[in-house]
Amino acid sequence: MTWNPAKYSHYADHRGRPFFDLVSRIDAGAPRRVVDLGCGPGEFTATLAARWPDAEVVGVDSSPAMIAAAQAAPERPENLRFVTGDLRDWTPGPEDDVVVTNAALQWVPEHRELLSAWAAAMPAGSWLALQVPGNFGAPSHVLMREHAATPVWRHLLDGVLRHDDAVGEPSDYLQVLGAAGLGVDAWETTYLQVLQGEDPVLEWVRGTGLRPVLDALSPEQAAEFEEGYAALLRKAYPRADAGTVFPFRRIFAVGHKPA
Ligand SMILES: C[S@@+](CC[C@H](N)C(=O)[O-])C[C@H]1O[C@@H](n2cnc3c(N)ncnc32)[C@H](O)[C@@H]1O
Repeated sequence: MTWNPAKYSHYADHRGRPFFDLVSRIDAGAPRRVVDLGCGPGEFTATLAARWPDAEVVGVDSSPAMIAAAQAAPERPENLRFVTGDLRDWTPGPEDDVVVTNAALQWVPEHRELLSAWAAAMPAGSWLALQVPGNFGAPSHVLMREHAATPVWRHLLDGVLRHDDAVGEPSDYLQVLGAAGLGVDAWETTYLQVLQGEDPVLEWVRGTGLRPVLDALSPEQAAEFEEGYAALLRKAYPRADAGTVFPFRRIFAVGHKPA
């Protein structure tokens, strides 16, 4: 799937809040290496390098465009580097004391098994922190699926949106990490995001959840799909004076391996 770093970073404030809520629960003092899996354009990974200046901090992402954007950022700290790679191929090394993965595992169907394997292999005293969107039942995603299933689009989009098992509940991650012997803090938060501009919910999902649809269609078809979908979104998320309220549920878990 293609990722657009500029589109993605446009919402860095709304996207940054859950990242910082997540990493605030990591209580590592002097980690040797910190890994950010699915790091995207890297602006949040850079904050990890600033927080732990003596750690080697590595951002990993499968999108060459995201890694190119991350590497192009000005004033990259010396302890920070980015590599292109699939997180499914990553395995923890003996010095990987902190692993963060923010808003990436929803794209990886087998992520529960991966978490279990990572948790088992990480060194004593390490931290494993994840955040995934928990909004697949929200109108934005239900309407996307319903629109994709209409007779006009079904033959082009059948099987493209895989939402049913994309993420678990907080209790699932508590179970997965706990079974590997980690102490776990798992929770959920719904952020009432106030978006501005025309069709802001469409604009938001263009950067993330709508990508598989856009990738499966020609530009003309994508524009037509968006037109119908945008009309549905306008009804579900009416614009008010202060902007358009877009509630966004997110799921968090932070595991700590006993020292
Ligand atoms: C929604 S963005 C999150 C980026 C960043 N973590 C943040 O919080 O801003 C999801 C990122 O996961 C990456 N990604 C998706 N599947 C991946 C995989 N299998 N391996 C590595 N990165 C992946 C995408 O390329 C994208 O940059």
